[in-house]
Amino acid sequence: MPSYAYFHNQFVPLSEAKIGVMTHCIHYGTALFEGIRGNWNSQQKQIYLFRLKEHYERLLNGCRVLTINLPYSIDELCQITIELVERCRFQEDIYVRPLAYKSSEALGVRLHDLDNDFLVFVIPWGPYLPDEAKCGISSWRRPDDNVIPPQAKITGLYVNNALAKTEALENGFDEAIMLTPDGYVSEGTGENIFLVIKGKLVTPASYNNILIGITRDTVIKLAQNELGIETIERQVNRSELYTAEECFFTGTAAHITPIAEVDHRKIGNGEIGEITKKLHKIYSNVIRGNNPKYLDWCTAVYKK
Ligand SMILES: Cc1ncc(COP(=O)(O)O)c(C=O)c1O
Repeated sequence: MPSYAYFHNQFVPLSEAKIGVMTHCIHYGTALFEGIRGNWNSQQKQIYLFRLKEHYERLLNGCRVLTINLPYSIDELCQITIELVERCRFQEDIYVRPLAYKSSEALGVRLHDLDNDFLVFVIPWGPYLPDEAKCGISSWRRPDDNVIPPQAKITGLYVNNALAKTEALENGFDEAIMLTPDGYVSEGTGENIFLVIKGKLVTPASYNNILIGITRDTVIKLAQNELGIETIERQVNRSELYTAEECFFTGTAAHITPIAEVDHRKIGNGEIGEITKKLHKIYSNVIRGNNPKYLDWCTAVYKK
């Protein structure tokens, strides 16, 4: 099945979407990305894009930070994405990668006097992490939030996350957990983190240098609406991870991934916890368009 990209204002085969070696964003990290899941529903033969609009809201907010003016509204970006995914005709889980970037072929560290562009492409992409993740606390810290505006996925700022991820894999873990510069739990390299403590959800707060995840928001709402479980957003100490009843990651790529171990210490009794299991089941139905209550979050791509 061929993949397509929307590139230079038109749909082209992905293999033809190329940028030049002098493109500004390659050198200075002056781009913003998003990740959007398309979830395949095999009974309905349908792909549902999950919380499409919210992803483009976050992208356009980030564009303000990097002074990237795009000639598209949120609705137009959504339409382009729907048309792109429709063209690809995938019948499996997919991942959509939009990028807003400084596109001039020009050198010099700056944001001004540069052209801006937008591209988006689609690839088939299954699970991002194993069913249960073994994690290690990273020696790489999540930089302070006057460096990272919490709502912006700026490409250049992901180098710390890349360092942390590779360090974790080299140490035999599946994923890293990054701390803030002052030593509180922040997040995974591409995921937010939740703990279950005394039956409630606890997650690092916006001031703990996290990306305010769309999946994080989804889980907070599902836990409240479907299970009556409250989420407390607060500073989390590293040792609370070791003693939590349950821990899990949330993210567009990773969905809800239970955490089995942190720093070689089993979480709970080492089995996937009851609350994580329940949330996982509810979430899996919601993202595939199987729960009518949450269809507003799901954009069906294929016309019947
Ligand atoms: C650093 C980081 N934290 C958290 C997340 C989770 O955010 P979302 O649920 O919006 O995908 C991501 C992925 O986008 C991320 O890159």
